[in-house]
Amino acid sequence: MNATLHNDRLLRALLRQPVDATPVWLMRQAGRYLPEYRAARARAGSFMALCQTPEWACEVTLQPLARFPLDAAILFSDILTVPDAMGLGLTFSDGEGPQFARPLRSAADIARLAVPDPEAALRYVMDAVRLIRRELAGRVPLIGFAGSPWTLATYMVEGGSSKDYHRIKGLLYDQPGLLHRLLEVTAQAVTLYLNAQIAAGAQAVMIFDTWGGILTPRAYREFSLRYMAQIVAGLTREAENRAVPVILFTKGGGAWLEAIAATGCDAVGVDWTVDLGEVRRRIGTQVALQGNLDPAVLYAAPERIREQVAQVLADFGTGPGHVFNLGHGVQPGVDPERVGTLVAAVHELSASQPPHGDA
Ligand code: CP3
Repeated sequence: MNATLHNDRLLRALLRQPVDATPVWLMRQAGRYLPEYRAARARAGSFMALCQTPEWACEVTLQPLARFPLDAAILFSDILTVPDAMGLGLTFSDGEGPQFARPLRSAADIARLAVPDPEAALRYVMDAVRLIRRELAGRVPLIGFAGSPWTLATYMVEGGSSKDYHRIKGLLYDQPGLLHRLLEVTAQAVTLYLNAQIAAGAQAVMIFDTWGGILTPRAYREFSLRYMAQIVAGLTREAENRAVPVILFTKGGGAWLEAIAATGCDAVGVDWTVDLGEVRRRIGTQVALQGNLDPAVLYAAPERIREQVAQVLADFGTGPGHVFNLGHGVQPGVDPERVGTLVAAVHELSASQPPHGDA
């Protein structure tokens, strides 16, 4: 594997080391807003075919990097590949979102779950990671990822996307022990899966807790955060003679950032509902921060995008430890040129801010 990394801004910022300009990447940077992504998906036949064919996953991962000077690639895959490998049977039908053929509907369904061997059932992901690293040739680092046990459990129990989460919340309040068994096996699966991604070449990893924000503070600690902390404690933290930073992101988790930072992760992802300057005062000396432009800003005119980027940079202030991102993923209706405006603005405006080196 080529160990030389030409642009290490992302890894440095995640470790709160000085950088020449703020690194930027975007959640869902490869996706439907790009016409070349839609074309690739049409040729591959389905979203799952893109994920399961390493050559397609590699091509799609690199698409946004061919357009914009992003400081990281993120593996093209989905958080739901893990439950699929656990036997739930994942499909994505057009416009319907994800669906499991065999959702968890009984104690027996949960008792039957086993931890999949990532190099067997998820070999296609590891092959994609290896291929992407080869094709990146050290241009920028590759981010691997997984879903949090709580977020995966919501999909596994609901059977797909949900409006009211009544099944998973019913389980939480009626049979917490059974939910803990599900979260425990899922946490083990995610730990092995992320470590396999790191062994295959992922240079940083991120855990997406998309639905942690629907919980009460107490339930968040017990059913979501606890299992993310368990995963953090089980991850490989060094590979190829470099630290492998870990990013935790709970959407809607603004009230709990101190607890998230205390898990031992390197960086915390923040959505747009909190002020980055305040977050920095709360936890910015322990961890790096990733975020947090409102994704809807990408619907605005280029000048407005530049202003809003400048605002997020100013909110964070000077000193190391900021990775620029949106507060959630790029939406499908966004004009790719606006993404170009954003990326250029982050580099330009942050490089002209005086001190990046001092905390
Ligand atoms: O960020 C990236 O560019 C990397 C790829 C990536 C995808 N999904 C590709 C994808 C990542 C990191 C994910 C994570 C993911 N998947 C999350 C957590 C992050 C978040 O968005 O909160 C969740 C909750 C999922 C589950 C999922 N996947 C849903 C609910 C959907 C349907 C909704 C939608 O946006 O269509 C998906 C599909 C999906 N995953 C698409 C992409 C590019 C769209 C598929 C398509 O129609 O082409």
